[in-house]
Amino acid sequence: MPAIAGGPMSVIGKAQPRVDGPLKVSGKALYASDHNFPGMVYAVPVCSTIASGEIQRINTSAAEKMPGVRAIFHRENIGRLSRAAVNHEFGANMVRLDETRAPLEEDVVRYYGQYVALAVADTFPQAMAAAEAVKVTYREHKPYVDERLAPEINHKVESERGDPVTAFSEAEIQVDQTYGLPPETHNPIELHASLALREGSTFTLYETSQGVVNHRNVLAQMLGVPKENVRVITKFMGSGFGGKLWPWTQSALAAAAARQLDKPVKLVVSRRMMFQNVGHRPRVQQRIRLSATRDGKLTSLRQDYVNHTSILDDYHENCAEATPFMYSVPNLRVTSALARRNVGAPCPMRGPGAVPGLWATESAMDELALKLGMDPVQLRLVNEPEIDEGLQIPFSSRHLKECLSTGAEKFGWSKRDPRVGAMKRDGLTLGWGMAACTWIADRFPCTANVELRDDGTARVSCATQDIGTGTYTILAQIAAEKLGLPIDKVEVVLGDSQLPAGPLSGGSMATASVVPAVLEAAGKGIDSLLATAVSAPGSKFAGRKAADLEYTNGRVHARGEPATGGIPYQDFLRMGNQQAVSGRGSSEGTFGLATKPQFSSHSFGAHFVEVTWQPEIARLRVSRVVSVIDAGRILNPLAGRNQIEGAVVMGIGMSLFEETSYDPRNGAPINSNLADYIVAANADVPALEVHFIEYPDTKLNELGARGIGEIGLAGMSAAIANAVYHATGVRVRELPIKIENLLP
Ligand code: MOS
Repeated sequence: MPAIAGGPMSVIGKAQPRVDGPLKVSGKALYASDHNFPGMVYAVPVCSTIASGEIQRINTSAAEKMPGVRAIFHRENIGRLSRAAVNHEFGANMVRLDETRAPLEEDVVRYYGQYVALAVADTFPQAMAAAEAVKVTYREHKPYVDERLAPEINHKVESERGDPVTAFSEAEIQVDQTYGLPPETHNPIELHASLALREGSTFTLYETSQGVVNHRNVLAQMLGVPKENVRVITKFMGSGFGGKLWPWTQSALAAAAARQLDKPVKLVVSRRMMFQNVGHRPRVQQRIRLSATRDGKLTSLRQDYVNHTSILDDYHENCAEATPFMYSVPNLRVTSALARRNVGAPCPMRGPGAVPGLWATESAMDELALKLGMDPVQLRLVNEPEIDEGLQIPFSSRHLKECLSTGAEKFGWSKRDPRVGAMKRDGLTLGWGMAACTWIADRFPCTANVELRDDGTARVSCATQDIGTGTYTILAQIAAEKLGLPIDKVEVVLGDSQLPAGPLSGGSMATASVVPAVLEAAGKGIDSLLATAVSAPGSKFAGRKAADLEYTNGRVHARGEPATGGIPYQDFLRMGNQQAVSGRGSSEGTFGLATKPQFSSHSFGAHFVEVTWQPEIARLRVSRVVSVIDAGRILNPLAGRNQIEGAVVMGIGMSLFEETSYDPRNGAPINSNLADYIVAANADVPALEVHFIEYPDTKLNELGARGIGEIGLAGMSAAIANAVYHATGVRVRELPIKIENLLP
């Protein structure tokens, strides 16, 4: 590893347990809704019971007379809430959200559950009762939640090269199939929650936010105050999965209620509202056409996809994300389209774009391998590209071939009998399937601050947040590495929009984003310490040049002399009567830039899956998963493996269980609870084997770390469906895979 050496003190690459672990297991970690303030009142939204129509009348008189009720807010009395002007930035000034209409803005209802009023009372039960007592009359239109996604607007070309139409029609081997993915709902254990405090024209919001800086910027615009007047705090999060990337309407409602009542207002979104009001992965339908020569070389690839979106917003599920660079193919076209439905705004959900995209393309690759009579691993190996053929630039670091070969070896793939249903164990039919995967490796802009303090500790601060993935620990490791301090001497402060602007916790990019800024901040902190060492009264280096000094593992010494003879840095701070010195670091983003990059940066991997099938009782289990991931240098193998395992579990849920169903009569998500919306439980999950092949990607940052997380979900559904085909002979092209689809 260049730049900073992994010496004996090094904490990079070590299995470092979570620095915030003790706070979490002892219940001291406060999540947004755990906060309480004197005089706090509770808000419960009134949700529309139609999916399309207009509000005719809101009768609040009964609700207003109920005990403890402070107010029933609606369009006429909530006060002004504006729309935020969305931009395309990702730094300190970013403004982004998926439901762009301000809450209670108009009397038109566009989706079931849309907030139409807000009951506020002294206690939560009182507010719930009051919300139920609000009588709303509607003029109802027939909702449009049709599952068939014929594109309703013209297909847009996302990527194109060569002549795929001719190549396909002239090819010897063709696959032409359509793959469906139902809407899926994020179900983090922690519900969305907003706790708003107002003082004059300033607001403090305790939030469940994957991006406190963006959340502040959006809310400032919605409330019509300068962004300095809004502070957003998210210290801990019980996961977000993309559903908490941007603010949803309950945040503005809580703040508006606090503004009207001049009291702290707590609003916790219910599990049912999680299915209505705070985003979901949209339904996606993809037609994939592949053609190849007899020896398996791809000659064309077409992907035409449609995703549903809400009536007002243009959420686009970027299924084309991985398609143009995944394999070598001279002729390619990817198109997309949107289909509007009476549903709440969709939004990114873990691995947006690539996860749905790879579900279809990696299934189609398996179908192609079957037609060719070729091993599916081999098919991928023969189509390995030299460069990113979409952008015509080299990869920063791509080791997919090694992921495939290592995975095949660890899994025992060479023992696979390709005949359907031919493999048995203990009376069970085995299915072995595999898929390749990839995910973005980029950086968001980041600034960070590092302080060296007179008690021998350091403090790193950054307005990013730890959404449960280990970000506190990673920042502690990076700073400890550069400062040469034990990790327990490093305090990490995150999750507050008043800190130096940091990255979203999204796109699996937080780790890669913070590396350069934290290293630079720590380096500048050391510079400023050396300046103190040559100026502090009584310092043995007084009058020397800072450049003559060196800082090693917490000690300052003359350049060239052994570090062990150095003086602890805090001694110089005390001599200089300084409590701390600090340094600021910043780095540019690489994601979403208009200019073409020099390198194509992605993580890669391969999943190998075994399912067991008992046709007698229609019992399907995922019995073994081996995942090999090429995600650059792994800063913390414990946190890294945990991310991949979590994503693989989600892949089992996505493949076998998850599906949000909308009632065609009223547009309501009908399985809007954790009893009817099935996610994978421990009993559904076998032992998971995760391997990292570590090639530091130093084009992305000094440590060579790419993000990990979402890549563990990418490709999983195809690997499972491919294994199911191998066991049963049934090709499932609509997720989730249901046992009734597998019966003869
Ligand atoms: Mo992830 S869907 O970018 O939180």
